[in-house]
Amino acid sequence: MELPIRLIATLVLASSVTAGMATAAPNFASDRAAILAHYAAEARKADPGFKGFSAAAGRAFFLAHPAGARPATPSCSYCHTTDPRNPGRTRAGKVILPMAVSRTPSRFTKLSKVRLWFRRNCQSVYRRQCTAVEKGNYITFMASQ
Ligand code: HEC
Repeated sequence: MELPIRLIATLVLASSVTAGMATAAPNFASDRAAILAHYAAEARKADPGFKGFSAAAGRAFFLAHPAGARPATPSCSYCHTTDPRNPGRTRAGKVILPMAVSRTPSRFTKLSKVRLWFRRNCQSVYRRQCTAVEKGNYITFMASQ
């Protein structure tokens, strides 16, 4: 039996596309797990009794309005909205993709990006750098959403 060349090419293409899709999602999950492991190691260094991250604490941190916040950035949820499954908005009105991992699977998968935005946003909302525990809690909460 002879399959037409074009059919074979289509089958090969289709199977490689499927293989590519199959590996894309697990990579996001393992990249995010590596970032969480990085923050867990930092948390353990600061506190040997560290017991793990908490999605509930991450949620409270996300919704809080800290007393010293810059007036223009009163909380994390100010830009990311109180339901992280929703798209957010910058102060200039530009759309921010949802923070919730169920909606934006690529969230928290690049350490350089994660570091940059924690540095900036913690400074404007909390007026200090966030701790490793706060960062891990935040990511754990977003991964549960
Ligand atoms: C002034 C608006 C604004 C506020 C307030 C804000 N963010 Fe963001 N945040 C952004 C923008 C813009 C991005 C980058 C765009 C994107 O990732 O879609 C971002 C991205 C991030 C990222 C990177 C996510 C990733 O995909 O790796 C983290 C982490 C983050 N924010 C955490 C926080 C935390 C924690 C707070 C509160 C302490 C906060 N943000 C408050 C606007 C804001």
